[in-house]
Amino acid sequence: MDGRTTVCGVIANPVAHSMSPVLQNLYAQRTGVNLAYVPFKVEPDMLQDMIRGAYAMNILGLNVTVPFKSQVMPFLKEIDETAEDIGAVNTLIRIDGGYKGYNSDVPGITRVIQEEGYEVDGRDCIVIGAGGAAHAACYALMKLGARHIYVLNRTQARSDELEHWMNSLAGRKIIMSLPLDAWDWIPGDGYLAVQTTSVGMTPNVGRAAIEDPEFYKKIRCAIDCIYTPTETKFMQNVKAAGGKAVNGLRMLLYQGIVSYEIWNPGVKVSEETVLEAEQAIMEMLGQ
Ligand code: ATR
Repeated sequence: MDGRTTVCGVIANPVAHSMSPVLQNLYAQRTGVNLAYVPFKVEPDMLQDMIRGAYAMNILGLNVTVPFKSQVMPFLKEIDETAEDIGAVNTLIRIDGGYKGYNSDVPGITRVIQEEGYEVDGRDCIVIGAGGAAHAACYALMKLGARHIYVLNRTQARSDELEHWMNSLAGRKIIMSLPLDAWDWIPGDGYLAVQTTSVGMTPNVGRAAIEDPEFYKKIRCAIDCIYTPTETKFMQNVKAAGGKAVNGLRMLLYQGIVSYEIWNPGVKVSEETVLEAEQAIMEMLGQ
């Protein structure tokens, strides 16, 4: 660090568990950018002061985590269209007069789908869960041209809300919401499925939101947003039925890399560095 170092950071509460400082500083080192990334613990009632302070101190970029993803929106100068549609920002960049907010969850999952070669355009998909991650997944699938998305969720009121939101954004009936146990209403097979619930996450390994092996015969390829364990019961079920499945590690990494590339236009994090970052995450998780 020297007099020219650019500062970025993550706002969270608590913040000590954040893996972002290790990863973002690795990207800065490997891409040769003079940037330092630090954790900021912010109290919820100090959010607006924090934004003003960060602007005053010329902080270039910030990541925002729960519970600030939507709370921070009123204090921003501009909001990118995807973040506005989703109603959550997780990446801020300093612009003239304030900060502009982006959502990197959507490009993060989009990049995984594209890299895996999963075809979406004109096809039908399944999303399990109806929380924040499911909203980002449905939005990404819509933008990639999905024909229909079946959303399966334990609490029907939440998937109905997601259905309503997405259908009005898409201007057509793209989402069909169903309770978890109504999966057999989904016709045919060959689906791309995104698993967004926390079921099966360490320490509750060996569980999946849908246990019936018959369900998995519908799935051609899948992403589980969970990354601990590295192979979930959901992924095992998909593979046992002959499908392909990846975990959420790349999605997590790409979200951060999208932020890094927003702050450093024209700079690209190499595949070699992504592999190094993957290793660093596994070490931090003690895997
Ligand atoms: P995120 O932002 O990561 O998506 P979230 O908003 O808390 O997290 O959403 C968690 C999702 O996991 C929800 O779809 C939740 O289902 P409900 O809407 O019924 O709460 C789902 N989920 C969590 N625990 C579950 C369980 N034991 N069985 C089935 N679904 C579960």
